[in-house]
Amino acid sequence: MTSPALEQINAALATVNDPEIHRPITDLGMVESVEVDERGAVSVRVLLTVAGCPLKETITRDVTAAVQKVPGVTGVALDLGVMSAEQRAGLQDQLRGGQPQKEIPFARPGSLTKVYAIASGKGGVGKSSVTVNLAAAMAKQGRRVGIVDADIYGHSVPAMLGLGDARPTQVQDMIMPVPARAVSGEISVISIGMLKPRRDQVVAWRGPMLDRALVQMLSDVFWGDLDVLFLDLPPGTGDIAISLGQHLPNAEVVVVTTPQEAAAEVAERAGTMASMMHQRVVGVVENMSFLPCPHCGPEHRLEVFGAGGGRRVAGTLSGRFGYDVPVLGEIPLDLALREGGDLGAPIVESLPDSPAARALTGVAATLSGRGRGLAGMQLGLSPAGRS
Ligand SMILES: Nc1ncnc2c1ncn2[C@@H]1O[C@H](COP(=O)(O)OP(=O)(O)OP(=O)(O)O)[C@@H](O)[C@H]1O
Ligand SMILES: [Mg+2]
Ligand SMILES: [Zn+2]
Repeated sequence: MTSPALEQINAALATVNDPEIHRPITDLGMVESVEVDERGAVSVRVLLTVAGCPLKETITRDVTAAVQKVPGVTGVALDLGVMSAEQRAGLQDQLRGGQPQKEIPFARPGSLTKVYAIASGKGGVGKSSVTVNLAAAMAKQGRRVGIVDADIYGHSVPAMLGLGDARPTQVQDMIMPVPARAVSGEISVISIGMLKPRRDQVVAWRGPMLDRALVQMLSDVFWGDLDVLFLDLPPGTGDIAISLGQHLPNAEVVVVTTPQEAAAEVAERAGTMASMMHQRVVGVVENMSFLPCPHCGPEHRLEVFGAGGGRRVAGTLSGRFGYDVPVLGEIPLDLALREGGDLGAPIVESLPDSPAARALTGVAATLSGRGRGLAGMQLGLSPAGRS
């Protein structure tokens, strides 16, 4: 008896669909190898898309049945492997091939989620601290809040919310955001650092890769219906601004600065970013504004880093954009704010009556007062006159 031809076996394998993707496993790169010996014994190695795929029994059964039908086949030995991250990425690209990327819910015309991009001219001004505290303050007010930590230089948001090294659960092709339970209410968090295949890996997020990561955080993550989404951006301008402008044209920008930063420079960097993105700057938060006097209380401001930086930035941006860019708040220096960040407990939660927590809660209230919904949204109008 002649052994069955490989072509026939391959044709039989091509009749087997992946149960989740509903396409032939041969088209999906899932058939790694096929061998047949002269006695008609066939060995097939099939790669599952993810380890512990719940549908591996189905695949085993279907592959075995299909190959057994080929005349001359005397036996089928099926070996299951798992795709590498690279192979999975290739598969995803293939599945999206030519098609537009998966939809970003926040960019839908009718989306009611307010999206705030927290930007700064330089690092270390308190962007992440402001982000987590605004998020916590809003969650406390009963709002459904999400945070995208898109800071490619350091991912401090998870630590500031006590999430440690938590990784998101992946369900099919959906990524579940990590819930921050240390706060009343709930904040859903995704950090760009969570997308690294391995924690210790150093990734230079740039250009297309950064763009893909941002899109993934926005479209592959199951956010549900959020009232507010915060994006903690890397400092300065760059690739991320272009990506954001393309994918989230309705995001609005909150600029964080300190009193001693050069107003012109902050306005230049953060403002250029906003105009590149055609996004509105809703206001400026001046952080580390002053040290409340330990003797007299917060009325006596010890202006350790100078004064008026936030106002100057706001003034420069107002002039540049031709609309009012207000100072949303002045956040005092507070040791407890830093400690709260280190401990994973935002100060608006742990010490709500401290001057810093009050100022942050005030900013959150101002932003909330702008409401959920379409008001103030950029509705895709021409960006003319806004740069
Ligand atoms: N108002 C404040 N009072 C005291 N400490 C603060 C205040 N704001 C921020 N800090 C501390 O300053 C440091 C930098 O803050 P944070 O990480 O929020 O800044 P960032 O702009 O996100 O920095 P990076 O550029 O590194 O992402 C942190 O240790 C934080 O706890
Ligand atoms: Mg940060
Ligand atoms: Zn004093």
